Amino acid sequence: MSQNSGRMKNRVCLITGATSGIGKATAIGLAEMGATVVILSQDHSRGEIVKKEIVERTKNNSIDVMKGDLGSLKSIQEFSLNFKEQYNELHILINNAGVYTNRRIETDDGYEKMFVVNHLGHFFLTNLLLYVLKQSSPSRIVNVASRAQRALNFDDLQSEKHFSMMKVYGQSKLANILFTYELARRIEDSGVTVNCLHPGIVRTNLGHEMPWIMRNGKKLVMLMAKSPKKGAETSIFLASSPEVNHISGKYFVNKQVKESTPTSYDVEVAKHLWEESESLIRAIIPEFSTSL
Ligand SMILES: NC(=O)c1ccc[n+]([C@@H]2O[C@H](COP(=O)([O-])OP(=O)(O)OC[C@H]3O[C@@H](n4cnc5c(N)ncnc54)[C@H](OP(=O)(O)O)[C@@H]3O)[C@@H](O)[C@H]2O)c1
Repeated sequence: MSQNSGRMKNRVCLITGATSGIGKATAIGLAEMGATVVILSQDHSRGEIVKKEIVERTKNNSIDVMKGDLGSLKSIQEFSLNFKEQYNELHILINNAGVYTNRRIETDDGYEKMFVVNHLGHFFLTNLLLYVLKQSSPSRIVNVASRAQRALNFDDLQSEKHFSMMKVYGQSKLANILFTYELARRIEDSGVTVNCLHPGIVRTNLGHEMPWIMRNGKKLVMLMAKSPKKGAETSIFLASSPEVNHISGKYFVNKQVKESTPTSYDVEVAKHLWEESESLIRAIIPEFSTSL
């Protein structure tokens, strides 16, 4: 039995995108520590298969799957209502799900998919669950970002004028970091910490839609990439380690605080992104307000 087993007993952890890759390895790691792990999955049957695998591997029966599509604001709202009906506590929220698409895909809400799944959906989910996180404090939010941080173009946030997959993905990942820093400022002293991370280059399903020439390039990169288990280490560290009990508003790589890109520290850009995100959500869900 590992020295960490039982460390997360009675801690409720919600993780998005745990049906594969880094998220699945993170869910396994937290389940091994005795946590109650709730998986938000857009495909319930895929989620159930992963749940069965985690229960068998870890002998932890407190694994749950709840349906939620981060590409749909209504689905996120429904998910959060269902979650709050079933759980009155949330200690760890891991915003991990992500997509990398090779063309501009519009969600049913009319927004660009990478921006929504990677940033806006998690922004919405976090705000809807913030009250429960505060009630359950000490609690933590962990945002899985990336070192692929690119500039944000507020004149074309939905990439209608120009789409390049690296630019749009990088923009969504910079948004993860700006959101982390802005949220940390807004919830200081609430008992809830929020940090983000780059997991490294990890062998996962991400980018399976890439054009063949890039997929071949990716294959080469993947030869040197980390396993999902290794790639999940910083997420698990931020979710569970006493070393980060009081650390908030930081960017981590390999379990160490690192500098993120200079734009990510621009308070005005972060504030602007917050307001834009709020108004994009309000266009679909008029009653939404972050009240922060
Ligand atoms: N792999 C890397 O090298 C790397 C590097 C830097 C950062 N990251 C970040 O790490 C995170 C995890 O990615 P990964 O590499 O582990 O990729 P992955 O294996 O493709 O996993 C992505 C997860 O996100 C879920 N997801 C996608 N769209 C969703 C939606 N609309 N609603 C709910 N869940 C959705 C997927 O669920 P389905 O199975 O249902 O599609 C899957 O469980 C992402 O945020 C990514 O940006 C990865």
